[in-house]
Amino acid sequence: MAERTSAEERLIQLEYIEKLRSFYESRITAGNAPSYHIETLGCQMNVKDSEKLAGILRDAGFVFAASEEDADLVLYNTCTVRENANQRMYGRLGRLQYLKKQRPEMLIAVCGCMMQEPDEVACIREKYGFVDIVFGTHNVFRLAELLYRRLTEEKQVIEVWEGTEEIVEDLPAVRKYPFKAGVNIMFGCNNFCSYCIVPYVRGRERSRESREILHEVEKLAGEGVKEIMLLGQNVNSYGHTLEEGISFAELLRMCASVPGIERIRFMTSHPKDLSDELIAVMGEDRKICDHFHLPLQSGSDRILKAMNRRYTREQYLTLVEKLRKAVPGISVTTDIIVGFPGETEEDFQDTMDMVRRVRYDSVFTFIYSKRTGTPAARLPDQVPEDVVKDRFDRLLRLVQETAAEALDRNVGKLLPVLAEEKNRREEGMLTGRLTNNLTVNFCGGEELIGQIIPVRITENCGFYYLGETEGR
Ligand code: 5AD
Ligand code: SF4
Repeated sequence: MAERTSAEERLIQLEYIEKLRSFYESRITAGNAPSYHIETLGCQMNVKDSEKLAGILRDAGFVFAASEEDADLVLYNTCTVRENANQRMYGRLGRLQYLKKQRPEMLIAVCGCMMQEPDEVACIREKYGFVDIVFGTHNVFRLAELLYRRLTEEKQVIEVWEGTEEIVEDLPAVRKYPFKAGVNIMFGCNNFCSYCIVPYVRGRERSRESREILHEVEKLAGEGVKEIMLLGQNVNSYGHTLEEGISFAELLRMCASVPGIERIRFMTSHPKDLSDELIAVMGEDRKICDHFHLPLQSGSDRILKAMNRRYTREQYLTLVEKLRKAVPGISVTTDIIVGFPGETEEDFQDTMDMVRRVRYDSVFTFIYSKRTGTPAARLPDQVPEDVVKDRFDRLLRLVQETAAEALDRNVGKLLPVLAEEKNRREEGMLTGRLTNNLTVNFCGGEELIGQIIPVRITENCGFYYLGETEGR
């Protein structure tokens, strides 16, 4: 737990960054800067944390290495939402051990949600002694200090906090895209959905002060960022832990008024906290993107109750209806879990029915994964694997059908697209995003990347579009 205040912590960490820089400067030969490679598993929050880790390393004099083979420091930022993410991480560590045998000076750090689980840390301590540094989600900003300790103390450094009240502001970050950025608005989650491990590994909900958020958004806009994504496990309850009495809708409006910012997105929402005020702001402010990710999880009221989601299918449908009325053409996407304990064929049919009714543009489908320590892990009637697999396949087929149909609505339209990157498969093509978050591939030169340009949507390819720029 932090014994320093946020302001002290920031200064101490900046000092450690300098110490690291000096440490390496006195050792490196022929201008060979130390290099780092970060592997990020999991959600946007982890992506954001990795940007912070990269920022600290850059300021400490490190350069980016494209692969772990060449890196002096390899970091794994882990996810633990589903069991298979844990297995993947141990598989990767096995490979790293082999690399480290060939290059013993290589350093390995593991951080993120999985490290907030005491059993996993014990496992690393006992079986993966070659891992140099272990830390969790609450002390990401301490990387420079932990790395410095590892370099000077010559032993495994493990520092995991159970939680924290502090939010350390204004430390460096490296962004993947110069024109878009994620901004944390809150940390942790208080919802305790019965299947979910996040409240245990990310801790209690804490919102950042709105002036700190605004300051960051203004700074990003000054650096040329056009699109921001406000990040939190449950953005709809933003502000509940603050004294300033501010709602998420007000925060959105404030961020949208920053000159230079052209698009605002947010992730993730909980249906139980989605307010009419937010829906109204989305309809009024055209900088707020026409996209709402509204996790459904299940279409069965019985299962929703067992999941502790605190809404019914009817309430959910009403929210979608209100959103579509306020923002015509809005893209609604969701997360669905198949095979929650006790899920019957009838419950599953309720989920299928919701997919047909809502007509999502895309759905992230997950097979229920039992997470030790969550209430659902203790429930009887875990659904047999073959039954879950069959339901999962049926759901996936339905989602593909309904999404492909839903996407037809934009074909023929001329829509603004933010050109994001070169298409990975086809030379001369770019990939961009509509305000509703759907991707469009179109012919164009690299000079367009980072610009918002009108693109005629010519073809619906199922889960993305083909388009053409006009008069170019
Ligand atoms: N099993 C399967 N999926 C899960 N999710 C969260 N916890 C679990 C679990 N134990 C899914 C939810 C959530 C998304 C990020 O991950 O659908 O919205
Ligand atoms: Fe997990 Fe529910 Fe919190 Fe989302 S809202 S992080 S699913 S507990």
